[in-house]
Amino acid sequence: MQRAVVLTIANQKGGVGKTTTAVSVGAALARAGKRVLLLDLDPHANASIHLRLYPEETPYTTYDVFMAQIPESPALWQQVRIVHESAGFDVVPGSVRLAELEIDLRERPGKGAVLRTALEAVRQEYDYIVLDCPPHVGILLVNALVAADWLIIPIQTDFLALHGLKLLFDTIGVLNKILPAPVRYRVLPTLYDKRAGACSRVLELLSRKMGHSMFATTIGMDTRFREASAHGRVIYEIAPNSRGAKQYEALAQEIMAL
Ligand SMILES: Nc1ncnc2c1ncn2[C@@H]1O[C@H](COP(=O)(O)OP(=O)(O)OP(=O)(O)O)[C@@H](O)[C@H]1O
Ligand SMILES: [Mg+2]
Repeated sequence: MQRAVVLTIANQKGGVGKTTTAVSVGAALARAGKRVLLLDLDPHANASIHLRLYPEETPYTTYDVFMAQIPESPALWQQVRIVHESAGFDVVPGSVRLAELEIDLRERPGKGAVLRTALEAVRQEYDYIVLDCPPHVGILLVNALVAADWLIIPIQTDFLALHGLKLLFDTIGVLNKILPAPVRYRVLPTLYDKRAGACSRVLELLSRKMGHSMFATTIGMDTRFREASAHGRVIYEIAPNSRGAKQYEALAQEIMAL
C-alpha cells in the first residue's frame, strides 16, 4: 500500500527559508497533483499565519497531536486537519503551546517517536507530509527527524550560515546512532543573490562540500515571497510565473524523483 513520504524541513539557524520552503514546496507538489499535508511544528506558527490560519482562531493544532492519548487515532486526525482550498493542501496549524512540550512530554516513554507513530494514521491518505520545524534543537526537532523519510536543510548562501551547519549535523549524528537507518538528507541553497560575489562563492563551497547531497535547484532572492506571506497566500496564488515560484516547482520535481 502506498505511504506518504515525510519531508522534514529543518535547520537550527533562524530565517533561512524553512517556512517559505515548507509552504511553497507543499503548494508546488500539490500543483503537480500530489496529495499533501503540512504540519506546523513551530511555536511561532509562521507557516499557519502565512496560510491565514491564526493560532488564536484555530481550536486544534499540532500540540493536540503530541498530547493525545492515542496520537494515531483517526478521530483525532479528523479533528486537527484543515483543508486549505487555495493553497491546495491540508494543514495542521501550529500553536504557541508547542513550546511547552519539552516539559509536557518529559516523563513520556518513547517521546521522540510520538509524531512518527501519530502519522501512521494518515500516511495512506497523502503522497507527501511536510513538517515545518522551529529553529532550535529540542523535542519537536527530534520528533521531526525521527519521522523523516527525507530531511531537507535550507541553507542561506551566506558565510555565517555555514557555521550553523555543524550543530545540525551533530544532532543528526547523535540520532543516527539510535535510529534503525541514518537520516537521509538534501541541502537546499536559499536566499541566493546572484549579484553578490560572496553568495556565489558560498554556493560553490557548499556544492563542493555536499556533492550529491545538495539539490540541483537553488532558491534565489525574490521579493514575491515576502509579498505572498504578507497577503497570507502561497506564491502560486499571487505570482505563479515568478522566478521563485518556478524554482520551487523545480525543487518539487527533484523531490518527486528522489
Ligand atoms: N527566496 C527568498 N527570497 C526573498 N525572501 C525570502 C526568501 N525565502 C524566504 N524569504 C523571507 O525571509 C524571511 C525568513 O524566511 P522564513 O520565515 O521562510 O525562514 P525560517 O527559516 O522559517 O525562519 P524561522 O527560523 O524564524 O522559522 C521571511 O520574511 C521570508 O518571506
Ligand atoms: Mg519558520
